[in-house]
This record gives sequence, C-alpha cells and structure tokens, in this order.
Amino acid sequence: MTTKSHPELVTAIVLAAGAGTRMKSARAKVLHEIAGRSMIEHALVAVSGAGVRTTVAVVGHDRDQVAEAITAYDPAVIQVVQEQQNGTGHAVHIALESLDSPPEGTVIVTYGDVPLLSAQTLSELLVDHRVAGRVVTILTAEVDDPTGYGRIVRDADGAVTAIREHKDASDEELAVREINSGILVVEAAFLTHAVARLESGNAQGELYLTDIVGKAVAEGRPVGAHVLEDVWQTEGVNDRGQLARLGRELNRRLTDHWMSEGVTIVDPATTWIDSAVTIAADVTLLPGTQLLGATVIGGGSVIGPDTTLRNVEVGAGATVIRTHGSDAVIGDRATVGPFSYLRPGTELGADGKIGAFVEVKNSTIGDGAKVPHLSYVGDADIGEGANIGAGTIFANYDGVNKHRSTIGRHAKTSSNNTFVAPVTVGDGAFTGAGSTIRGDVPPGALAVSAGTQRNIEGWVAAKRPATASADAARDARPESAQTEPTEEPTGD
Ligand code: UD1
Ligand code: CA
Repeated sequence: MTTKSHPELVTAIVLAAGAGTRMKSARAKVLHEIAGRSMIEHALVAVSGAGVRTTVAVVGHDRDQVAEAITAYDPAVIQVVQEQQNGTGHAVHIALESLDSPPEGTVIVTYGDVPLLSAQTLSELLVDHRVAGRVVTILTAEVDDPTGYGRIVRDADGAVTAIREHKDASDEELAVREINSGILVVEAAFLTHAVARLESGNAQGELYLTDIVGKAVAEGRPVGAHVLEDVWQTEGVNDRGQLARLGRELNRRLTDHWMSEGVTIVDPATTWIDSAVTIAADVTLLPGTQLLGATVIGGGSVIGPDTTLRNVEVGAGATVIRTHGSDAVIGDRATVGPFSYLRPGTELGADGKIGAFVEVKNSTIGDGAKVPHLSYVGDADIGEGANIGAGTIFANYDGVNKHRSTIGRHAKTSSNNTFVAPVTVGDGAFTGAGSTIRGDVPPGALAVSAGTQRNIEGWVAAKRPATASADAARDARPESAQTEPTEEPTGD
C-alpha cells in the first residue's frame, strides 16, 4: 500500500530516548545495525513508507549520536529531547508539545528499536483503524512468552478494555498471551486530550501511554486491536542476542525477496544482503557472499563464493569470485578474482579482468583491459585493451605524495614491472620483463630498463665453496671440467 490509500494527515512519533543498557555498548542502542541500516533508520523508513507527513523523534540517551543519525537520514524529522525517561506517555506528551500546534488527523506511535516493522504493516494498521472508525488501534500479537510486555485486557465479548503493564498485572492478566507491541494509531485530537491527563499511579511511577486505551473505553470511545500474525515485526531489540536473531530473520526475508525476483541464491543461510542492495534477475549468488550498502548487481552476473561487496556496482554478465570490494565499479562481462581486493575508486571496464592476488585502488582499468596476476594498481589509468604483466607494481607513493600513472590503450607491459609514478606509457607501447619504468614511454615504443644479463662463471664455487649449491654446480658440469677453478672470477 502507498500514500494514496490514506491521503489524510498522518503524524508519526518515534520513541527512541531509552538507554539500551543491555547492549553494553558505547554506541546508542538504536544505532546498532541489521541489514546495513541502524534500527532508528528502519523505523524512519517504515513510517515514511506509510505515508507519514510529519515525523517527530524523541531522543534522550546518547542523544548526540542519535540526533546525528536522524539528521543524516532526513533533516526534516523533528527531534525533541526527553531529559528524563518518565515513560512512554511522557515521551509522547513532549513530542506533541514540540509541534507548533496540536496535530490534526491521525498519529502513529512507534519505537526506534523494532527494526522488522514494515511500512506495509503500518499502512494496514492505519486502514484497519479508519475502516473500524476507532480512536485508538493498538498493534498486538500472540506470543509464547509474554513476560515483560503489556497485556491486552479484553471483556467477555472480546472487546479490548485496557492494556495492563506486566508489573501492574493480576495473575489472571499475566496469563494473557496477547501482548501490546507498543505500536499504535490514535486520533490526534484524542491523543492530545488523553496524554495531558495521564497519571503515574502505577508500579513504575511512570506516565504510561498505554493508559489512553482505558481512558478511551471509560469515555465510551471505540478502541480495538489489530492482531499481527507476523510476531517478528513487533519484536524489540534489547541485547545483542536479539539483534543477531532479528538480523538473521531480516536477512531471511531479504534473500526470500530476491529469490522471488529471480535471483539464484545457492545458500541463503550464508548469503547476507543489506536492505538497500539491488539485484537483477538471473544473478547467481554463491555461498558466503555478502552484498552490502548500496551494492547493485546486473543481470546474469555470478558473485561468490566468499565475496564481500560494499557499495559496488557490478554490470551484467560479470563474474566476481572470492573478492573483497568497496566503492568500486565492475563493468559488464568483466571478471574479478579469485582473491582480488578492490578498494575505493576502482573502475573496471566492460570485458576487463582483475585477476588473482591483485589489489586496485583509485584506478580506472579500461574496457577489455587486464591485470591478471599478483599486482598492485594504485592511482593509475589503464587504457582499453591494455595488458599488465604478472607481478606489476604501480609505485604511486613517494613517501610524501601520491602520483598518478597512465598506461595507454592496447599497451602490453611485461612481468615484474614497476611503474614509478607519475609516468605515462603511450598507446600501443610495450615494456620488457623486470623493467622499472621511471620515464614516459612514447606510443609504440618498447621500454627496457633492466641491464644486459652478465654471467660470472664459477662464482658459486669461488664465493660459496663447499655448499650444496657448489656441489650441484660441479655435478652439472661436463666430466672434464669438474675441477675447482684456479682463477678468482672477476666481479661479484
Ligand atoms: C512498552 C509498553 C508495553 C509494551 C512494550 C513493548 C508502555 C507503558 N508500555 O513497555 O505495553 O508491551 O513497550 O515493547 O508504554 N521510551 C522513551 N521514553 C520513555 C520511555 C520509553 O523514549 O520515557 C522509548 C524506549 O526508548 C523504547 C520504547 O519507548 O523505544 C519502549 O520503552 P520500553 O521501556 O522498552 O518499554 P516498556 O515501557 O517497558
Ligand atoms: Ca522494550
């Protein structure tokens, strides 16, 4: 469902002032991530997907960190600080007071630590609320272990009459397995009226938002529950165990989604896909693949096994094997891996190749160009169709500054070359094996920097006598020559 199904005014209040002590973290609880998004972001994504016009976030503990994350997500979200966590009713009260005028229409109250709650569920909750014509609709679920939750109290006819907090509940109420998720939809005018009248005469001495249900019932206003079958969506995170459990479940949902979109995932249990990733049909993901951040994979590409890509754009028909990459681009039909390291700013053209044990940083490798073996390419531009020999190093760093190098189109550089930046190899040029290229090479030239080979006969026998090498060298010589040399060889 989209915004169109409920064009009326909707305001969201996202509660996120709590401490999160059980995370035992220097990081605010709601900033812990699953599927590449912090929990507070998941909450904001859900409310914005439900057609909310105005969002107010209530922050408190670790407010600086949380505020920064909220502003980064959407600076239009209104933030209000709750100095002391006097309860969910108090939090909503100060959220309402932060607005220029009391809100009109409908208000969604949700939490910053319930990361699986979807926009679709919020939309369905809004529709149910409107169709039933209630003043309050709470999102509830039947759970096996309701310990700690507020219980949904119903009368003999099954009508909701109150929410009772665990600490305030009678034995009979404690036996109820229908729990308050804490997420609810309420008419704005009633909320403003009811929240101003909350009292703290309860076991925790707090202002309970949940008391607005009993108040509505007492005033004869219609209230009800929207029971969610999908209990995962109502689960909050209080510790790292829950974070991991919900993270795995969200990943299961994401892998299921992409499989339904035509992606082959050989082993969903070892494949991790962040929320913001996009994958085309007929992509194959092999075991141990992690697609993170804003990674995009084009049609027909095969990724993995054992590959981690963060913010990497992979074209169509590419192959990426046992690779670690971030902030990089891999062209159509290009091949990468195994054991390749693509650092930020790597751009590999169509049909290009980055092969085994190759590290690339801040470099462009043109269409059809290849860096097949054992190389470091840093701050270089390699032209289309060029081939870089095995064991090549782009020496980009002079100890103070980084410099760029350029290899021309269809250049063929040989094995074990060092390009001392800044240097330019012209189009169609060649280099000899073992060359250290310090000066520019004109187009079409062959650059050779290694000296002419010199063989110093008998050097081992003279300088390393009585070694296994000397013995082997002697045994390799013809019978007649198997005496020790009498003269000192020249040079060493
Ligand atoms: C609340 C509900 C309970 C429900 C449970 C679901 C009340 C009184 N109780 O329990 O019925 O079953 O959630 O998890 O509403 N928060 C603030 N400021 C505060 C208090 C809380 O921002 O002063 C935020 C917390 O950061 C958290 C959320 O509100 O995101 C819920 O608070 P928490 O203390 O976890 O829930 P309870 O009040 O125990
Ligand atoms: Ca909680």
